Amino acid sequence: MAATCEVNTWLVVFALLMVLTIQLQYFGVSADPQVPCFFIFGDSLADNGNNNKLPTVAKANYLPYGIDFPDGPTGRFTNGRTTVDILAELLGFEKRIPPYANAKNSDILDGVNYASGTAGILRKTGKHAGQNVDFRNQLKNHQKLVSRLVKVLGNETLAKERLNKCLYWVELGNNDYINNYYLPDLYPSSSIYTPQQFANLLIDNHRDKLQNLYGYGARKVALIGLGLIGCIPNSISVYGTNGSACVDYMNDAVQIFNKKLVALVDQLNKNFTDAQFIYINTNAIGSEDPAAAGFKVWDVGCCVVNDIGQCAPSETPCENRNEYVFWDSYHPTEALNLITANRVYNSSDPTTSYPTDVNHLVQSSPAEHYSVVLKQMPQ
Ligand SMILES: *[C@@H]1O[C@H](CO)[C@@H](O)[C@H](O)[C@H]1NC(C)=O
Ligand SMILES: *[C@@H]1O[C@H](CO)[C@@H](O)[C@H](O)[C@H]1NC(C)=O
Ligand SMILES: *[C@@H]1O[C@H](CO)[C@@H](O)[C@H](O)[C@H]1NC(C)=O
Ligand SMILES: *[C@@H]1O[C@H](CO)[C@@H](O)[C@H](O)[C@H]1NC(C)=O
Repeated sequence: MAATCEVNTWLVVFALLMVLTIQLQYFGVSADPQVPCFFIFGDSLADNGNNNKLPTVAKANYLPYGIDFPDGPTGRFTNGRTTVDILAELLGFEKRIPPYANAKNSDILDGVNYASGTAGILRKTGKHAGQNVDFRNQLKNHQKLVSRLVKVLGNETLAKERLNKCLYWVELGNNDYINNYYLPDLYPSSSIYTPQQFANLLIDNHRDKLQNLYGYGARKVALIGLGLIGCIPNSISVYGTNGSACVDYMNDAVQIFNKKLVALVDQLNKNFTDAQFIYINTNAIGSEDPAAAGFKVWDVGCCVVNDIGQCAPSETPCENRNEYVFWDSYHPTEALNLITANRVYNSSDPTTSYPTDVNHLVQSSPAEHYSVVLKQMPQ
């Protein structure tokens, strides 16, 4: 009798455990994200704290930056979440992707964010404001991280398999125009190159670095086109619009780059058949008709800006932040980032995402050949 009772008790405990386990699975307590990791290369649109400790004026780790972010000011150049923060949520990540600058080994399995305010494709870009981590150095950091990942996971095969399945986001080039080509007093590029030649120079640089990224195992890569930089409040106030809504010659110049970036996507997909590269046109997202998207103000930012167009410390920003496209003189509000992230993730429109959107990119079957080469960056 006592023995039967004991068995019954154990059966009940066992049954309860089963129910609990099934419930935990059902309610997604530990649901996996759509990709094991997300690596971000970029500039201030994605920076989440990498510039905080660098000697540069391009920092955003003070109020009112982060006023709508759960952790307050972190170094994000907006009031709340960035586009990549929201995209990571859509992909199913429960924790935020950490900045490379302070990612511990226990954090790196989910990927890291290398983005740095004022960074560009060219090494000199943005350096008048102080240091930044340009694309070349972001890739060097990635190379170091890959070595750490091999140690954390135990061997190279496991690291390669994981790296092949991750999503890679590359959003650079805006600063090569804003903080280089269109600052003729500080950078000689516009007296050396026509816009066409300058776009060629950037694309040639980009091609080499993207081949390196592939070499470190990237197989799902989203390349982000440049925004309509002639429509940002800083451009409008500094350069003048000559009767137009935006500074047209700036927008024309970045369109040259964007066209070449689409051609580069085609080339990369042709050459690297075990990888998929996509192009994302954020112009088709943000600037098409701000009024239709519910915005009321797009010619000035929401916060009170200092002489370089960043929010002045501790000044009270506008209340109605959802009605503003821009947060400061350069960067979008979280309200616009929400629209951008959703469209990036899910768009059947080839003028927005080419040849496919992020949702389909991450669902595409894992690369057939795990042929990552952990080669050294050329100096
Ligand atoms: C790597 O580690 C995994 C899991 O421990 C093991 O199955 C595999 O054989 C290892 N591969 C190599 C090349 O050591
Ligand atoms: C200003 O606009 C006029 C008329 O469209 C045009 O002819 C002129 O080239 C523009 N100037 C600049 C600096 O863009
Ligand atoms: C693709 O391969 C061709 C031929 O080897 C090469 O000239 C070109 O630079 C490569 N392009 C890219 C983007 O890898
Ligand atoms: C993606 O967009 C389509 C059409 O706009 C919509 O029907 C679908 O629910 C969206 N999917 C997600 C995951 O947001």
